[in-house]
Amino acid sequence: MISTSRLVLALVAAMCLAAGVRVLAQDHDHGAHEEDKEAAAKAKAAEDAALELGKKTWIDKTLGSNERACVTCHENPKRPDLDLKGVTAKWPRFDEHAGRVLTIQEKFVQMQSRNLKAEKTLPLGDERWTAIEMYLRSK
Ligand code: HEC
Repeated sequence: MISTSRLVLALVAAMCLAAGVRVLAQDHDHGAHEEDKEAAAKAKAAEDAALELGKKTWIDKTLGSNERACVTCHENPKRPDLDLKGVTAKWPRFDEHAGRVLTIQEKFVQMQSRNLKAEKTLPLGDERWTAIEMYLRSK
C-alpha cells in the first residue's frame, strides 16, 4: 500500500512539473512575439526607405538629359490630367506607343526614354523603379 506521505510527495512533484512546463511555454511565446515585432520593424524600415527613395527619384533630374524629372509633368498645375493618383492599379495594360501590354515599370522606362530623353535607361526591377511605384501608390 502507498503511504499518504508518498502520495503527497508525488502530488507536489506533479504540480511543480506542471508549473515548470507553463513557465517554459510562456517563455517560448514571449520569444516568438519578440521575433514577430522585429520582423515587422524590419519590414517597416525597408518600406519607409523605399518610399523615401521613390520621392527622391520622382524629382531626380539626372534620370534624363532635358532638365526634367517625372514631377515636372506629373505634378503640373496646368496639366491636372497628368496627375498619377491611383495609377498603380491601372497597370499592366495596353500602351499605344509600345503597341502591346506593358507593366507599370516598363511604362516608367518608356517615360525615361521618351520624356526625359535618357540615353541609358534604368533596368526593369531597379530599386528606384520599385520605389517610384511605392511612392505613386502612396499618393
Ligand atoms: C515631358 C513630360 C513627362 C515627363 C517628364 C514624364 N511623363 Fe509620364 N506621361 C506624360 C504624358 C503626356 C503621359 C500620357 C501619354 C502617354 O501615356 O505616353 C504620361 C503617362 C505616364 C504614365 C501612365 C499614366 C496613366 O494614366 O496610366 C505613367 C505611369 C507615367 N507617365 C510615369 C512617369 C514617370 C515615372 C516619369 C519619370 C521617370 C514620367 N512619367 C515622366 C508626360 C511625362
